[in-house]
Amino acid sequence: MDYRGKWALVTGASAGIGAAFARSLAEKGANVALTARREDRLAALGGELERDFRVSTRVVVADLADPGAPERIAADLRAHGAGADILVNNAGYGLPGLLLESPWEEHRRFMNCLVASHVELAWRLLPDMQRRNWGRIINVASVAGLVPGMAAHTLYGAAKAFMISFSQSLAAESARFGVKVSALCPGFTYTEFHDVNGTRALADRLPKHVFMAAGPVVEGALAAVERGQVVYVPGLWNKFVVGLLGALPRPLAARLVQAQSTRIRRAP
Ligand SMILES: NC(=O)c1ccc[n+]([C@@H]2O[C@H](COP(=O)([O-])OP(=O)(O)OC[C@H]3O[C@@H](n4cnc5c(N)ncnc54)[C@H](OP(=O)(O)O)[C@@H]3O)[C@@H](O)[C@H]2O)c1
Repeated sequence: MDYRGKWALVTGASAGIGAAFARSLAEKGANVALTARREDRLAALGGELERDFRVSTRVVVADLADPGAPERIAADLRAHGAGADILVNNAGYGLPGLLLESPWEEHRRFMNCLVASHVELAWRLLPDMQRRNWGRIINVASVAGLVPGMAAHTLYGAAKAFMISFSQSLAAESARFGVKVSALCPGFTYTEFHDVNGTRALADRLPKHVFMAAGPVVEGALAAVERGQVVYVPGLWNKFVVGLLGALPRPLAARLVQAQSTRIRRAP
């Protein structure tokens, strides 16, 4: 993969999988626009990428729960000649508890950040990709979007299932314009995800083999989008889980997922 001269936009670039995407894309020669809420982290990463890989970077601080954020990000990139050839829709988090345990405003922010903002960014950046007849879009979903829904973290699996289905449709629509689209479906990955949603202690009790580092997840995803694989599940363990649950009768798969999820999900 040689992305020299391309611009990539990575959402949620201040930590975890997003920061790993930014590093890997810069290593492959891409200039990188970084967005998230924590400016200090983005500025530090931008400086590191410029120094280590001699690429250009642009920091756009934005809260993707804000409905105006995608338009502002796209306008900023255009104004600074950083129109994205590669879009990594990655920002996200988990919202623990049952549906009625969070105020509606929390759910609205969650759906804006994990779903609406990412669809809008694709909608805003796709026309230029089509005009150039080259583009890549990676939507970071989750194994949770491929397995039956379960109690607690109610909207998480639903949001990720949306991103998978959206990626499939967008890939089918975009192929003739030279634009490749993939949904990346990681399982447990070592990032700040479980610290942010307060499930670190539970996650630490899981066997080590279920976790992956962010680096291989990202390398696998970039290879997958290049070969045109629309739904990509990184890691043998995650592939095994998805394959097994897909082969079982749906009610049995749902019971198994529910039983396992109570070990990791904060539910009453
Ligand atoms: N780690 C896992 O086990 C795992 C498994 C499957 C899927 N995923 C998915 O992978 C993606 C990345 O998560 P991660 O594991 O790398 O977690 P992470 O280390 O906590 O990083 C999450 C990123 O999202 C950004 N973000 C969160 N809320 C935001 C908002 N309102 N506006 C803008 N940016 C926001 C954060 O930046 P700021 O806080 O600076 O805004 C941060 O850069 C998510 O979509 C997640 O659902 C993770």
